[in-house]
Amino acid sequence: MKTAQIDQDLAKLLADYQVLYAKLRAYHWTVTGPLFFGLHAKFEELYDDAALKVDALAERLAARGVRPPLTLKDQLALARLAEDGGHPSANDMVRNVATDLGTLNGSLRALEKAAAEAGDAATQNLAQGFADAQEKTIWMLKAFLNG
Ligand SMILES: [Fe+2]
Repeated sequence: MKTAQIDQDLAKLLADYQVLYAKLRAYHWTVTGPLFFGLHAKFEELYDDAALKVDALAERLAARGVRPPLTLKDQLALARLAEDGGHPSANDMVRNVATDLGTLNGSLRALEKAAAEAGDAATQNLAQGFADAQEKTIWMLKAFLNG
Protein backbone atom coordinates (compact mmCIF):
# COMPACT_ATOMS: atom_id res chain seq x y z
CA MET A 1 0.00 0.00 0.00
CA LYS A 2 2.69 2.46 0.98
CA THR A 3 4.82 1.36 -1.95
CA ALA A 4 1.99 2.09 -4.41
CA GLN A 5 1.57 5.52 -2.83
CA ILE A 6 5.25 6.30 -3.34
CA ASP A 7 5.06 5.23 -6.99
CA GLN A 8 2.01 7.42 -7.49
CA ASP A 9 3.66 10.39 -5.77
CA LEU A 10 6.75 10.05 -7.95
CA ALA A 11 4.63 9.91 -11.12
CA LYS A 12 2.61 12.96 -10.07
CA LEU A 13 5.76 14.91 -9.28
CA LEU A 14 7.18 13.99 -12.68
CA ALA A 15 3.98 15.32 -14.26
CA ASP A 16 4.08 18.50 -12.16
CA TYR A 17 7.64 19.22 -13.25
CA GLN A 18 6.67 18.71 -16.90
CA VAL A 19 3.96 21.35 -16.47
CA LEU A 20 6.38 23.66 -14.68
CA TYR A 21 8.95 23.10 -17.43
CA ALA A 22 6.46 24.15 -20.12
CA LYS A 23 5.40 27.16 -18.05
CA LEU A 24 8.99 28.30 -17.51
CA ARG A 25 9.74 27.99 -21.22
CA ALA A 26 6.66 30.07 -22.01
CA TYR A 27 7.76 32.70 -19.50
CA HIS A 28 11.31 32.64 -20.94
CA TRP A 29 9.86 33.38 -24.38
CA THR A 30 7.26 35.96 -23.45
CA VAL A 31 8.60 37.97 -20.51
CA THR A 32 8.81 41.68 -21.33
CA GLY A 33 9.85 44.90 -19.66
CA PRO A 34 12.89 46.28 -17.85
CA LEU A 35 13.39 42.96 -16.02
CA PHE A 36 13.67 41.02 -19.29
CA PHE A 37 17.35 40.12 -19.28
CA GLY A 38 17.47 38.84 -15.70
CA LEU A 39 14.21 36.93 -15.87
CA HIS A 40 14.82 35.51 -19.36
CA ALA A 41 18.03 33.95 -18.02
CA LYS A 42 16.53 32.90 -14.68
CA PHE A 43 13.59 31.11 -16.32
CA GLU A 44 16.03 29.22 -18.54
CA GLU A 45 18.06 28.18 -15.50
CA LEU A 46 14.87 26.99 -13.79
CA TYR A 47 13.51 25.06 -16.77
CA ASP A 48 16.85 23.32 -17.20
CA ASP A 49 16.60 22.34 -13.53
CA ALA A 50 12.99 21.15 -13.98
CA ALA A 51 14.07 18.96 -16.92
CA LEU A 52 16.77 17.33 -14.78
CA LYS A 53 14.21 16.67 -12.06
CA VAL A 54 11.79 15.05 -14.54
CA ASP A 55 14.61 12.74 -15.57
CA ALA A 56 15.58 11.90 -11.99
CA LEU A 57 11.97 11.13 -11.06
CA ALA A 58 11.43 8.93 -14.14
CA GLU A 59 14.62 7.03 -13.42
CA ARG A 60 13.71 6.58 -9.76
CA LEU A 61 10.41 5.04 -10.92
CA ALA A 62 12.27 2.81 -13.39
CA ALA A 63 14.66 1.73 -10.65
CA ARG A 64 11.63 0.78 -8.55
CA GLY A 65 10.41 -1.36 -11.46
CA VAL A 66 7.64 1.07 -12.42
CA ARG A 67 7.03 2.47 -15.90
CA PRO A 68 6.92 6.28 -15.73
CA PRO A 69 4.08 8.19 -17.43
CA LEU A 70 5.39 8.49 -20.99
CA THR A 71 3.10 10.84 -22.87
CA LEU A 72 2.28 14.47 -22.31
CA LYS A 73 -1.39 13.46 -22.25
CA ASP A 74 -0.81 11.01 -19.42
CA GLN A 75 1.40 13.47 -17.58
CA LEU A 76 -1.14 16.27 -17.87
CA ALA A 77 -3.82 13.99 -16.44
CA LEU A 78 -1.61 13.32 -13.42
CA ALA A 79 -0.32 16.85 -12.86
CA ARG A 80 -1.51 18.97 -9.97
CA LEU A 81 0.08 22.17 -11.22
CA ALA A 82 -1.83 24.20 -13.80
CA GLU A 83 -0.54 25.29 -17.19
CA ASP A 84 -0.34 28.98 -18.10
CA GLY A 85 -1.09 30.06 -21.65
CA GLY A 86 -1.83 33.63 -20.63
CA HIS A 87 0.17 36.84 -20.59
CA PRO A 88 1.10 37.52 -16.97
CA SER A 89 3.26 40.49 -16.03
CA ALA A 90 6.90 39.82 -15.22
CA ASN A 91 6.18 40.04 -11.48
CA ASP A 92 3.20 37.70 -11.79
CA MET A 93 5.39 35.20 -13.62
CA VAL A 94 7.82 35.19 -10.71
CA ARG A 95 4.94 34.97 -8.25
CA ASN A 96 3.42 32.01 -10.14
CA VAL A 97 6.73 30.16 -10.20
CA ALA A 98 7.26 30.77 -6.47
CA THR A 99 3.75 29.47 -5.78
CA ASP A 100 4.30 26.37 -7.90
CA LEU A 101 7.61 25.65 -6.20
CA GLY A 102 5.88 26.01 -2.83
CA THR A 103 3.21 23.53 -3.92
CA LEU A 104 5.92 21.16 -5.12
CA ASN A 105 7.74 21.45 -1.82
CA GLY A 106 4.60 20.41 0.03
CA SER A 107 4.35 17.31 -2.16
CA LEU A 108 8.07 16.60 -1.87
CA ARG A 109 8.06 16.82 1.94
CA ALA A 110 5.08 14.43 2.07
CA LEU A 111 6.92 12.01 -0.20
CA GLU A 112 10.09 12.37 1.87
CA LYS A 113 8.13 11.36 4.98
CA ALA A 114 6.32 8.45 3.27
CA ALA A 115 9.57 7.16 1.80
CA ALA A 116 11.31 7.35 5.19
CA GLU A 117 8.47 5.36 6.78
CA ALA A 118 8.69 2.78 3.97
CA GLY A 119 12.48 2.48 4.32
CA ASP A 120 13.08 3.77 0.80
CA ALA A 121 16.19 5.87 1.39
CA ALA A 122 16.79 6.67 -2.29
CA THR A 123 13.35 8.22 -2.76
CA GLN A 124 13.62 9.96 0.60
CA ASN A 125 16.96 11.51 -0.35
CA LEU A 126 15.71 12.53 -3.77
CA ALA A 127 12.64 14.27 -2.36
CA GLN A 128 14.62 15.90 0.44
CA GLY A 129 17.31 17.14 -1.94
CA PHE A 130 14.79 18.69 -4.31
CA ALA A 131 12.85 20.36 -1.51
CA ASP A 132 15.93 21.67 0.31
CA ALA A 133 17.29 23.33 -2.83
CA GLN A 134 13.89 24.72 -3.77
CA GLU A 135 13.46 26.40 -0.39
CA LYS A 136 16.42 28.58 -1.36
CA THR A 137 14.97 29.28 -4.81
CA ILE A 138 11.62 30.25 -3.29
CA TRP A 139 13.37 32.64 -0.90
CA MET A 140 15.20 34.26 -3.85
CA LEU A 141 12.02 34.64 -5.91
CA LYS A 142 10.23 36.21 -2.93
CA ALA A 143 13.20 38.54 -2.32
CA PHE A 144 12.93 39.63 -5.96
CA LEU A 145 9.22 40.38 -5.52
CA ASN A 146 9.84 42.38 -2.35
CA GLY A 147 12.46 44.60 -4.03
FE1 LIG B 1 16.16 30.61 -25.15
